[in-house]
Amino acid sequence: MDLDPAEVMSLLEAVQPDVLGWRRHLHAHPEVSFHERETAEFVYQTLQRFEGLELTRPTEFSVVARLVGTAPGPVLAMRADIDALPITEENEIEFGSQNPGAMHACGHDAHTAMLLGTAKVLCALRDRLQGEIRFVFQPAEELPPGGAQPLCDSGAIDGVDAVIGAHVWTPLPVGTVAVKSGPMMASSDTFDLVIRGRGGHAAQPHLGVDCVAVAAQAIVNLQQVVSRATDPLKPLVVSITKIHAGTTSNVIPDEAELAGTVRSFDPEQRRQVPGIMERVLRGVTQAHGAEYDLRYQFGYRPVINDPRVSAWVEEALLAEFGRDAVVAPEPSMGGEDFSAYLTKAPGTFFLIGAGNAAKGLAYPHHNARFNIDEDALRIGTRAEVHAALHLLEQLRAAGR
Ligand code: NI
Repeated sequence: MDLDPAEVMSLLEAVQPDVLGWRRHLHAHPEVSFHERETAEFVYQTLQRFEGLELTRPTEFSVVARLVGTAPGPVLAMRADIDALPITEENEIEFGSQNPGAMHACGHDAHTAMLLGTAKVLCALRDRLQGEIRFVFQPAEELPPGGAQPLCDSGAIDGVDAVIGAHVWTPLPVGTVAVKSGPMMASSDTFDLVIRGRGGHAAQPHLGVDCVAVAAQAIVNLQQVVSRATDPLKPLVVSITKIHAGTTSNVIPDEAELAGTVRSFDPEQRRQVPGIMERVLRGVTQAHGAEYDLRYQFGYRPVINDPRVSAWVEEALLAEFGRDAVVAPEPSMGGEDFSAYLTKAPGTFFLIGAGNAAKGLAYPHHNARFNIDEDALRIGTRAEVHAALHLLEQLRAAGR
C-alpha cells in the first residue's frame, strides 16, 4: 500500500465533525438490544453516502459493509456494537436521550460513530487498498444470546482473516489506548436455582423442611466453588444475585428461588463449574432433606485476544500515539459477545480511554450519568484506521 501519512491524517481531520455529529445523534436516539430499528437504518443510510461499499443486512438489526480494494488481499472485519441499555439518562446535555428508559450508557454510540468515520476514511483510500475491510455493525451486545452469534451464523464473517473491535472505556483516561493478548473479557454464564423444602407453620419447623435455611447453606457452600474447588491461578466468579422465598413471618415457604452468574477465562474450568455446583447442591440439600433444581445456561464465551493480531494492533497504536499513550489493559470479568467472532477468525478487542475526572466524565459504564470525553472519538477513529491499514499490510506479509 502506497499511502501518504499526511493524506490519511487530513482525511481523519476532515471526518471529525461527522463522527461527533453521528455520536450525538445516536446518543439522543438510543434503542435497546434487539430493537435497533432506527439505529440500523441510520447506519445504513450514512454508509450509503460513501463511495465503494457493498451493503447488506444479514440479520434484522445489523448492517455489514464490505469495502473491497482494487487488488486482492486479506480480509479484515471491524466490529461496532450499536445497542443502548434500559436506563433512564440523568445527564443534562443538549444531546441527551430522547427515548425515556433507553440510554447509551456503555458508549456504543461512540463505537458506531467511530466505525462510520473509519469507513468513510478508508473508502477514500479504496483505490490503494489490497484486500477487503468488512465493517460489522452489530445489534444486541448487551442482551444474551446477543447479536454476534446470529451474524456469525449468517455467514457474514466467513472468509475473514482477522477481526478487531474497540470499546471506549471511562476507567482509562482519555488519551490512552489499551491492548493486550490473551484473556480480556470473561465468559458470562447464568443459572437459576430452586431449593424445594416442605412448607408449614413457622412455629413448628421440625414438621417441615425449611427451604430458607437450606438456601442460606447453599449460598455459603457455593462460595467454596471458587475458594476451594478450582485453581486459584485461574480467575473465577460465582455470584448469587437473586434470592426470593416466602410471603410473611409465620409461614415457612415451600421453595426458594435463586439466580446468579459465573465468570471465567478458562474454557476447561468453565465446563467444570456446573458439575461442581451440582455436587455442592446435592450434598447440602440431601443433608437437610430438601431437593434442588439447577438450570445452568452457558452465555458468551470468554474474549481471548490473539497474540499476533494484538501485537500488530499494538504496533499501529505505538506508531500513532507513542509509548506513553499505549497501556496494557486489566482483563475484565465482564462479558462481551465479541468472543463469537473469535470462533471464526483470530482477533483482538482493545480499549480507547474515554474518562476525564477533571471534566466530571468518570462515571462507570452502565451508570445513568455515564458519558465519555468526546476527544476519545478522534483518538478511536484514528486508532481504528491505522490498525486496519497496518493489519492489512501485516496479514498480506504473513501470506493471507
Ligand atoms: Ni459495552
